[in-house]
Amino acid sequence: MSDWQQIWERDGARQMWSVPDREVVELAERWKNAGSIRRVVDIGCGIGRHVRHMAQQGLDVYGSDHSETAIESCRQWLQSENLSAELWCGEMEEIPYPDATFDACIAFNSIYHGTAERLDGMIRLLHSKLRVGGECLVTLPSRENRMYGRGECLAPDTYVSPGMYGDLFAHDGESGVPHHFCSRKQVQSLFRGFHIQSLKHEELQLATDRGKTEAVWVSIPKAFFWRVVAIRKDSNVQ
Ligand SMILES: C[S@@+](CC[C@H](N)C(=O)[O-])C[C@H]1O[C@@H](n2cnc3c(N)ncnc32)[C@H](O)[C@@H]1O
Repeated sequence: MSDWQQIWERDGARQMWSVPDREVVELAERWKNAGSIRRVVDIGCGIGRHVRHMAQQGLDVYGSDHSETAIESCRQWLQSENLSAELWCGEMEEIPYPDATFDACIAFNSIYHGTAERLDGMIRLLHSKLRVGGECLVTLPSRENRMYGRGECLAPDTYVSPGMYGDLFAHDGESGVPHHFCSRKQVQSLFRGFHIQSLKHEELQLATDRGKTEAVWVSIPKAFFWRVVAIRKDSNVQ
C-alpha cells in the first residue's frame, strides 16, 4: 500500500510529472497577457511543474499539497531557479486565504482523491476562493477510464486503486489511493455556479523530462480524464 508521500520519493514519478501540461502552458500565456489574472493557486501541486511554469510567467503563484516531500521538492526547484511562490503543506481543503482571493485556480489530477461528496465540497470551495469572473482548470477521471470499477469500492464510483497506471510510477503506482470517477452529467452538475468554457474528454498525456532536448509526450491508453475550464459566475451556490 502506498500514498502520494511515498510516490513522490521515487524518481520515476518525478520524471513523469515534471513537464507542464500543454493546456496549462496555453492558459498561463493567456492569463499573463490578459492582465486581469495575477493570483493563481495550484491545489495538489505535486513537485510543482505548473507552479514553476506560472512563476516563470510572472504570475503570483500559490500552491498546496499534502505531501511534505512534494512541497519540499517544489520549494527547492523554485529556489534553484530564483523563482518564488507561496507554498504550504496541507489537505486540499486547507486554503488559508479569504474568499475571492484568487483570479485563477488549477487542480490538475488532484482533487478527486476521495468520494463524490468530498469532490463536490472541493468544487464549492474553489468557487468561493475564486473571485467572480475567476477561471479554473480542473481535471477529473472519467468513468471510461480503464481503472473505473477496479479495486476496493469505497463509495459510489469511488475505488481504492489497486495500482493505477502502474507503468507511470515505479513499484506499485498509485496503489492504495482512492479515486472518484465522474460522468459528463456529474461534471456539469459539479460546476454549477460556473460557466463551463470548455469540457474535453481525453486520455492523460505526460512527458518525460529529457533535460535540454524536447519533451516526448505519451498518451496513457484509456486513461480518460475530463478537462474542465470554467469561469466563476456571480452567484453563491449550495
Ligand atoms: C497526480 S499528482 C498531480 C500533481 C500536479 N497537480 C501535477 O499536475 O503535476 C496528484 C497530487 O495530489 C496530491 N494530493 C492527493 N490527495 C491530496 C489531498 N487529499 N490533499 C492535498 N493534496 C493531495 C498528491 O500528493 C499529488 O501531489
